[in-house]
Amino acid sequence: MPEPKKLFIKTYGCQMNVYDSERMAEALGGQGYEETDRADDADLILLNTCHIREKAAEKIYSELGRMKKLKLAKPNLKIGVTGCVAQAEGVEIMRRQPMVDLVVGPQSYHRLPELEAKVQAGEKALDTDFPDEDKFEILKSRPKTPHGPTAFLTVQEGCDKFCAFCVVPYTRGAEVSRPVARILDEARNLVERGVREITLLGQNVNAYHGAGSDGDCSLAQLIWGLDKVDGLERIRYTTSHPNDMSDDLIAAHGDCTKLMPYLHLPVQSGSNRILKRMNRNHTAESYLSVIERIRAARPDILISGDFITGFPEETDADFQATLDLIQEVHYGTAYSFKYSTRPGTPAAERAQVPPEVASDRLQALQALLTKQQQATQNAMIGREVGVLFERPGRDPGQMVGKSDHLHAVHVTHSNARIGAISRVRILSSGTNSLAGEWVG
Ligand code: 5AD
Ligand code: SF4
Repeated sequence: MPEPKKLFIKTYGCQMNVYDSERMAEALGGQGYEETDRADDADLILLNTCHIREKAAEKIYSELGRMKKLKLAKPNLKIGVTGCVAQAEGVEIMRRQPMVDLVVGPQSYHRLPELEAKVQAGEKALDTDFPDEDKFEILKSRPKTPHGPTAFLTVQEGCDKFCAFCVVPYTRGAEVSRPVARILDEARNLVERGVREITLLGQNVNAYHGAGSDGDCSLAQLIWGLDKVDGLERIRYTTSHPNDMSDDLIAAHGDCTKLMPYLHLPVQSGSNRILKRMNRNHTAESYLSVIERIRAARPDILISGDFITGFPEETDADFQATLDLIQEVHYGTAYSFKYSTRPGTPAAERAQVPPEVASDRLQALQALLTKQQQATQNAMIGREVGVLFERPGRDPGQMVGKSDHLHAVHVTHSNARIGAISRVRILSSGTNSLAGEWVG
């Protein structure tokens, strides 16, 4: 047997990228690669990049600059860039940093083994096309090695919404949904390997419309299909757009016991004027009405969101409308970002808000969201919740898992084993987690 070659993947950004990195490691496993967590030990380094954060491409170029010395020390080392920066920059990456051997966009990961072989033969490899063939199917046929009792399952990729600030429709392409039967097969396969909770992933997951046995199938119908998979106990999905929260999906939150009481529903702004300029195609009122309907279906649902401060032309009054909306919704948790320009998107061309104003607003917004998060966590104290245990904690005898509401929960002196779902009484709340006692 030849020595396994070592693969180091550095993952940036979203859960989609974490998932993609796992699939890439599997695909390259077939080429004799084994993963390492040390860059200086690797024969192949992949930077799986994300374009969402500010100056993403520049950060990748400086990281590549730092990796140059590894390549000087080990001339056989191959370096690749994957993910959304690869898609957006393409051959430009190899022009600016000639030691890069491989550039692969998210639509072409199934070609990695073939591209890697090309690189080993001393050539450069570039693939940032959007091919018609279904890359999911090719990647999917490889054995899965889930890590622990929870797993992500991509059901949909890309987005047709074209929010004025966002690069996803350009980097990930048009919205594509996987067929239902393939998803159910993959879910059963994951469950056989010990998975008890599946998070359905997609940039615009609730726009899902994959082919079913009887025509196109909605996300709610897919969830009901997964509900019948024995051994699968919990279902989640992320990320959603308010306009795709259909009646059947809202109803499923009330009727499907495996669907967990958590909804990540980005709104970005509470000002109708800004929402229009963002091309969100919804208003603050229509968003609030979705929240009201989902709470009618599932009163204890925890709502999470995404916000942007300092979007071009945002005034103090617009920002106040966002704070008002937050007060009205009361978020259990949230993600918030200062607007940053993405070249090529419509908002990049508009009058920018001074960065210090955007920062001050972000601070004020986060202070309010943190207060709401703490209040939500404190309200859990004294309650008994279901916890799926994922890993041992730092202290002896401690176990860590996630509650139905996706709170991290630490439990000492539990009889729990990894993969078990137990009742836990919540005793206290920390900054980002809860602590409780095992009930049974
Ligand atoms: N500037 C700031 N935040 C952004 N997001 C997406 N694009 C930008 C940008 N240009 C945020 C949105 C989105 C989340 C994934 O990232 O809030 O919902
Ligand atoms: Fe980007 Fe989400 Fe808007 Fe699609 S819906 S363009 S992924 S922010």
